Amino acid sequence: MTAFSAARARPARDDLFLSDVLEGLSRPDKSLPCKYFYDAEGSALFDAICTLDEYYPTRTETALLHARAAEIAGLAGRGATLVELGSGSSVKVRILLDALDAPALYVPVDISRDHLIAAAARLAGDYPAVTVVPVAADYARGFALPRGVAPERTMAFFPGSTIGNFRPAEAVAFLQGLGRRLGAGARLLIGVDLRKDPAVLEAAYNDAQGVTAAFNLNLLARINRELGGTFELERFAHLARYDAARGRIEMHLRSLDDQTVRIAGHPVHFARGETIHTENSYKYSVPGFRRLAARAGWRTERSWTDDDRLFSLHWMVRQG
Ligand code: TRP
Repeated sequence: MTAFSAARARPARDDLFLSDVLEGLSRPDKSLPCKYFYDAEGSALFDAICTLDEYYPTRTETALLHARAAEIAGLAGRGATLVELGSGSSVKVRILLDALDAPALYVPVDISRDHLIAAAARLAGDYPAVTVVPVAADYARGFALPRGVAPERTMAFFPGSTIGNFRPAEAVAFLQGLGRRLGAGARLLIGVDLRKDPAVLEAAYNDAQGVTAAFNLNLLARINRELGGTFELERFAHLARYDAARGRIEMHLRSLDDQTVRIAGHPVHFARGETIHTENSYKYSVPGFRRLAARAGWRTERSWTDDDRLFSLHWMVRQG
């Protein structure tokens, strides 16, 4: 039997998109929330990023999941509920579903509604014994979980180093809230990118083919499509740089000349060289991340890294 329900999937709020965009672009240091990267185009471009030579996180985390799948299955136990935050195309979770002992329920949570529904339907077809309940939501703002799921059986899955897209204080608050939502005894399998040679990091966010540039610029194209924006994409350039002091990659879109853009009729001025900050991607050490998680009420029981120490996976349990 295939159990699949899209009842919890709700449409995105366009009015929120407009107010978030205007608010971010009216600041002295212009910025845009990174969650808006992921419309249909952006989700497809992100999938392309994940296959790039320079973008080591996806293949490294995937190899780690394969290498540790049996151990993770032992920790997860029989009949687990998997809650995935930012499930995208639901590719990595298949490694877990293949290894786990009779997983009962899979709850993919993602902001990109149509992409989520399509991915969840494919997955439900491939895993007929697993009940799939997609939840279309911005997981950072909170979301409803199906009722009656025991915390000790629940395992949240947060791969891709997406936790690095929060500032450290926000990451603590987010992990704290997640633990509260899931309950004492809940488990978390989280993928975290490690600090390393800045040249390797910068290449991962500025690939030779320009896919990451296209992904970043798609944010402006989306504003044009959905909010009647007048951005000319060739007048902005993708910029990725590593800030070693903060341990983060910063992504920006740099205005190539002095220009005024209209968004839903509102004028926004850009000086030549001015940037829109579109994303941070924080990198951690293994002990550094464990300390952060501890502040949020999660005890780390296992940490795994690849031999080159590019990427880490952590198994954590929510304290009472
Ligand atoms: N969570 C991913 C990361 O920080 C997201 C990401 C990868 C990303 N490449 C990007 C976001 C390029 C914006 C632009 O690695």
